[in-house]
Amino acid sequence: MKDGVREACALLQAGGIVALPTETVYGLAADAFNPEAVAKVFAAKERPSFDPLIVHIASRGDLKTVAIVPDEIAETVNKLTQAFWPGPLTLILPKHPDVPDLVTSGLPTVAVRQSAHPFFRAVGKELGNPIAAPSANRFGRISPTSASAVMKELEGRIPLIIDAGACSEGVESTIISIEPREGKKPVFRLHRAGPITKEQLQEFGKVEKFRESTAGTPQAPGQLESHYAPLTPLILLKDPADFIPEEGKRYGLLCYRGEDDSPYVTMHDWETVEALSPGSGKLAEAAIRLFHVMRLLDEAGLDAIVAEPVSETGLGVAIMDRLRRASVSC
Ligand code: TXA
Ligand code: MG
Repeated sequence: MKDGVREACALLQAGGIVALPTETVYGLAADAFNPEAVAKVFAAKERPSFDPLIVHIASRGDLKTVAIVPDEIAETVNKLTQAFWPGPLTLILPKHPDVPDLVTSGLPTVAVRQSAHPFFRAVGKELGNPIAAPSANRFGRISPTSASAVMKELEGRIPLIIDAGACSEGVESTIISIEPREGKKPVFRLHRAGPITKEQLQEFGKVEKFRESTAGTPQAPGQLESHYAPLTPLILLKDPADFIPEEGKRYGLLCYRGEDDSPYVTMHDWETVEALSPGSGKLAEAAIRLFHVMRLLDEAGLDAIVAEPVSETGLGVAIMDRLRRASVSC
């Protein structure tokens, strides 16, 4: 690991970009304090400049170098970061002036997290600067949860991809902003559902949906309706009876457990069937496999991918969010 850390760090120090593993998905990293390096991330991903990046800090103490935490929420930020960092929780906070505007797309806020991945942490520590890193896919496409998926997305566009195996969470971090309330627990606005669930956050505050303001540029393009999209149309069903196949078309099934007697498995003669959680039937396994399975089906030469819904509790909220955004009918 040491050589890889040194190589990745040397590239970042020289103003280059590199794909690194995090516990959620692979990220495309740049020194967050180097705007030219950050510009390379936008170019490699073909990402529009209005879509801000997440800044990853190496230690909780580094938070003050990228954000200015208002007194009214300092205690809450402390509690949340104690509970969930390092880990897949991203906080939207007022930005420190040292963070280049390119990183935050000119917003007065910055999205910050501390990754729990040992490789990512080691690079951040050695670099000494925060790392700006979006998911290492082309804009709007499926996030990569393995180095081979990064290759498919960005080969020839970036100088180095670090392979540290599959990501342990499989969906991108939960993103929240914090609104203080006099004499009450704060409100957390959920900008993106992720591995840290509503149930986990509720111990510290009231969780409410983030509502996009209608004026101006979108504040969180991860919230754009179409995102995480395979090239093959994906149809997310509510009920098996909703599926009406067209003559001569090739359909593949993305299902939850994939048991032989499941109504989704038996309702059609599928070209191929991929289960999110064939082993444990647990949402955690489904989250880890989600983008991998989407990618497999996307590469299977189908006319459409038909997806079974998962129950919207705990991690199921993040999984359904990604399926909806990937689907043609959202
Ligand atoms: O797990 C993750 O969060 C992964 C890994 C690599 O850390 N990163 C990731 O980054 O998913 P990205 O760029 O694919 O998604 C970041 C989302 C985008 O939807 C962006 O719009 C939103 O965060 N975002 C960033 N800064 C923001 C801000 N200041 N206010 C609101 N949304 C923001
Ligand atoms: Mg992304």
